[in-house]
Amino acid sequence: MKKKVVIANWKMNYDFHETTSFIRNLLKFVFEKKINHNKEIIVAPSFPFLHISNQILQGTTLNIAAQNIHQKDRGSYTGEVSASMLKSIGIQKVILGHSERRKFFLEKNNILLEKIKIALKYGLNIIFCVGESLNERYNNQQFKIVKDQLEETVFHCSSEDIKSFYIAYEPIWAIGTGKTATFEQAQTMHEFIRSLFLEKYGEKISNNISILYGGSINDLNAKDLFYQKDIDGGLVGNSSLKLEKFLDIVQS
Ligand code: PGA
Repeated sequence: MKKKVVIANWKMNYDFHETTSFIRNLLKFVFEKKINHNKEIIVAPSFPFLHISNQILQGTTLNIAAQNIHQKDRGSYTGEVSASMLKSIGIQKVILGHSERRKFFLEKNNILLEKIKIALKYGLNIIFCVGESLNERYNNQQFKIVKDQLEETVFHCSSEDIKSFYIAYEPIWAIGTGKTATFEQAQTMHEFIRSLFLEKYGEKISNNISILYGGSINDLNAKDLFYQKDIDGGLVGNSSLKLEKFLDIVQS
């Protein structure tokens, strides 16, 4: 059974106090007030707060993801953070391939493949993002772009390793812009992505892999998006910065 998942990607927004108080309040709502939901909840704080966040969430069903790792094991890479460092503080998941990493930090598919390999070496689960730009959609290239992104990265992995992945379809034109893909556009792409997994890895894997949508999800559109057959949840940026909105999305 594929898991339903909602991820709060806080990007470079929350400081120590904001991160820890959000997580404590989230726990209160999820466990004490017992909000009704059927999803795995993952929060992605910035590096300095991963350790404390993980301690707060110990023994709960909520999970943590890092927002990035470096592709090398260790060495002279000033300012970088390795997969083994994350592993050593108990982090089990990482977001890779986010379009902001691709755009601002020039992470190409070959680098992302190295990051995937090192993440798998340390047993991290990977939330891998794919998606086309507005221009590519105008030129009707979205399917080719997403296929290439997967073929040059994730599809180098074995069937065993694929069990460590979540895929996030994030059309770049919808991220942080307030423009969401319509649920038909998103469902069509998710169905296509699932068909690629079917072709490459067979039915069991394609049925089980969670494919999340990301790009201006909010409390108003989440229900329609999550209702789609091939949309298994969301990777949420802006709307994950307000607890009430995030809780509404979790319950959608
Ligand atoms: P957004 O960001 O919800 O603010 O569009 C999504 C993401 O970048 O993962």
